[in-house]
Amino acid sequence: MTQQTIALVTGANRGLGRKFATELLSRGVKVYAAARRPETIDLPGAVPIQLDITDPESVRRAAAIAGDVTVLINNAGVSTEADLLSGPIEDIRLEMETHYFGTLNVTREFVPIIEKNGGGSVLNVLSVLSWYHAPSFGAYSAAKAAGWAMTDALRTELAPRGVHVAALHVGFMDTDMASFVPADQKIDPAVVAKLAVDGLLGGQPEILADELTKQVKAGLATANG
Ligand SMILES: NC(=O)c1ccc[n+]([C@@H]2O[C@H](COP(=O)([O-])OP(=O)(O)OC[C@H]3O[C@@H](n4cnc5c(N)ncnc54)[C@H](OP(=O)(O)O)[C@@H]3O)[C@@H](O)[C@H]2O)c1
Repeated sequence: MTQQTIALVTGANRGLGRKFATELLSRGVKVYAAARRPETIDLPGAVPIQLDITDPESVRRAAAIAGDVTVLINNAGVSTEADLLSGPIEDIRLEMETHYFGTLNVTREFVPIIEKNGGGSVLNVLSVLSWYHAPSFGAYSAAKAAGWAMTDALRTELAPRGVHVAALHVGFMDTDMASFVPADQKIDPAVVAKLAVDGLLGGQPEILADELTKQVKAGLATANG
């Protein structure tokens, strides 16, 4: 990435998104740090911007401000831990509205901007749970699986238009979202952000951040449920 690279990171106020913004800033990239509450952005050098990815008006406003973007990092996400049969249907909808429709909406607004600026890339933050579908994470897994399908379709559609689309798949990271997971089972989100930016720069279509994710992906060929 060069100083001409201009990135927007969704959910940049905490967790992995904050690490993405930090990593990009360290490489000399201009970063729009997008958050539902931009006053919670505390990264020197970043440009805070209001963005709720589930609110089309908020997405339109952000796109009108950040017209120089060349790299979009779709990081924002939620985990309700709803299962599909007894979990609140509102939670199941929220997962899909956030991971699938929200990410798609942001992408639809920013792809024309990236094209206008000469091309660039989109990185969708997915999960090992895009492929491993545990009942206790039914809503989350379904939404991340939908995100995987979306990412693949967009990659094919946008490659001839000069926009590289990549997915980051990762297991548990040490963020608020995985606060229930023992420390020795989580990886450092700063390490993941660096690896993902390197992968995006290297033109990788799919960035697998840890051993568990690599094993689950390799097992897809033989999986039967
Ligand atoms: N942590 C893990 O173990 C893990 C594993 C695999 C994949 N992931 C994925 O990694 C990404 C980052 O998660 P994280 O671990 O950093 O979680 P986190 O610490 O809970 O942070 C989630 C971020 O997403 C933002 N967000 C949620 N809904 C939003 C919306 N509608 N509009 C804009 N921002 C929104 C949050 O903003 P607020 O502060 O306003 O709530 C926050 O900045 C997510 O896509 C997640 O699914 C996480």
